[in-house]
Amino acid sequence: MVDVVVDWELLRAKAVEAAQAAYCPYSGLRVGAAAVCDDGRIVVGCNVENAAYGVGLCAECTLAGQFFLTGGGKLVALACRSGTGELLMPCGRCRQVIYELGGGACLIDTPAGVRPMTSVLPDAFGPEDLP
Ligand code: THU
Repeated sequence: MVDVVVDWELLRAKAVEAAQAAYCPYSGLRVGAAAVCDDGRIVVGCNVENAAYGVGLCAECTLAGQFFLTGGGKLVALACRSGTGELLMPCGRCRQVIYELGGGACLIDTPAGVRPMTSVLPDAFGPEDLP
C-alpha cells in the first residue's frame, strides 16, 4: 500500500489514450476510463459495443476487468473521457460499478470539479446493505 497522490492530468490523458482502443461502430463515441488504485497503479478501460446493442460494455466495465486482472485492491480516483478529450460522466450503471470497487471516498472527475462517489451516487446501495 502506498500513499496515493492523484495526478489528474495523467489520469485524464490515460483515459483519452484508452479511448483510442474503443470498439464503437454503432455510437461512434469513443470512451476511455482511467483510474488509480490504492497501490498506485493505473488501470484503464474502453467501451466495447455489440451488434446486439444492449450487450455493449462501457469503458468503466472493461476497466473493472483490468483492475481485477492486475491485482484488485481499491479504486482511489477515476477519470472518464471521450477520444477527443471531452469529460464524460460515468453512466448510472457504471457509478454503481465504481462504488463497488472504490466505495464512497473514490474521487471522480466531474464538470463541477473533483467529487467523491458519495456526491455522484448519493445514498448508494452497496455491499454494506447486504445481510
Ligand atoms: N459509455 C461508456 O463507455 N461509459 C459511460 O459511462 C457512458 C457511456 C459508452 C457506451 C456506448 O458504447 C457509448 O458510450 C454511447 O453510449
